[in-house]
Amino acid sequence: MAMSYKELGFVNTRKMFDKAVDGGFAVPAYNFNNMEQIQAIVTACLETQSPVILQVSKGARDYADQTLLQYMGKGAVEMMKRMAEKKGLGPIPITLHLDHGDTYELCVSCVETGFSSIMIDGSSLKYEENVALTRKVVEYCHKFDVTVEGELGVLAGIEDDVKAEKHTYTRPEEVQDFVKKTGVDSLAISIGTSHGAYKFKKGQKAEIRLDILHEIEKRLPRFPIVLHGSSSVPPEIVAVINKYGGKMEDTAGIPEAQLREAARSAVCKINIDSDGRLAMTAKIREVFANKPGEFDPRKYLGPARDALKELFMRKNRDVLGSAGHAPEIIAAK
Ligand code: G3H
Ligand code: 13P
Ligand code: ZN
Repeated sequence: MAMSYKELGFVNTRKMFDKAVDGGFAVPAYNFNNMEQIQAIVTACLETQSPVILQVSKGARDYADQTLLQYMGKGAVEMMKRMAEKKGLGPIPITLHLDHGDTYELCVSCVETGFSSIMIDGSSLKYEENVALTRKVVEYCHKFDVTVEGELGVLAGIEDDVKAEKHTYTRPEEVQDFVKKTGVDSLAISIGTSHGAYKFKKGQKAEIRLDILHEIEKRLPRFPIVLHGSSSVPPEIVAVINKYGGKMEDTAGIPEAQLREAARSAVCKINIDSDGRLAMTAKIREVFANKPGEFDPRKYLGPARDALKELFMRKNRDVLGSAGHAPEIIAAK
């Protein structure tokens, strides 16, 4: 083992999800690929006193390198502690999570380099193959007290290289068997969310299947459920992008009120990536349009980082309900 996540200052998701079940909130899982994103995530979560899951996708590893991202995660923990002291705030729990792990070997390499939580996504496999792969990953990860998220059901849209035309909703009758056979700590489900910035068309009834969620909750009481593809594609942000030369037409995301309702029930982790991308893009377009002479990356990445921080603070407070819950997780035995 090169480096244990505990030495790096990360925590696994167990206490976070315990408190999320009791408190009716969801822990934000924000994707990061660069320094500005990780700064925005950590400062937003520190200032709202929210637990946070920093997640690393395949795209992020290809873009920035797995080791570099892992060191950035470690740096974020150190920065959080220093900022907390300076601002007179308590520390927040931070998880470093592999998003959509697709092979056993990748999961092992992430555990070896300090990830504290792993997603093994076997959702595109046949049920029994998904069970077998997930079980194998769980057996390995639990030796190191790393928590594991599995997935049942297929989200529409593109997930790394796997593309699905339509949703295959999670079948509530399978969830107990899957959790029992695999030993996963949390379960990602498919109830109508999807990845990316084009989830629904404008005017189309944007609705997720909360009835399926409630059915799953009945069969798995107190079990942590995860929602991927949970960006809301805020129309006011899309409008700024389009005002300043962008071209994003006819799109809508998951209504925030539905996410809030999901977070009040069994959903303990909500994944958001696209909304952050949109917020940064809108701000950068605005700076470029208003200050065409600007060429210092800090002058457009800085405002983009501020916009991202503001977005995440609002999500934590109004959508996930995770604001203010860090202290009880830190204090939990
Ligand atoms: O799961 C999807 C996330 O938004 C990550 O996307 O692979 O383009 O980084 P990415
Ligand atoms: P969005 O594309 O809706 O932000 O979803 C992100 C996600 O699920 C990452 O795993
Ligand atoms: Zn996802």
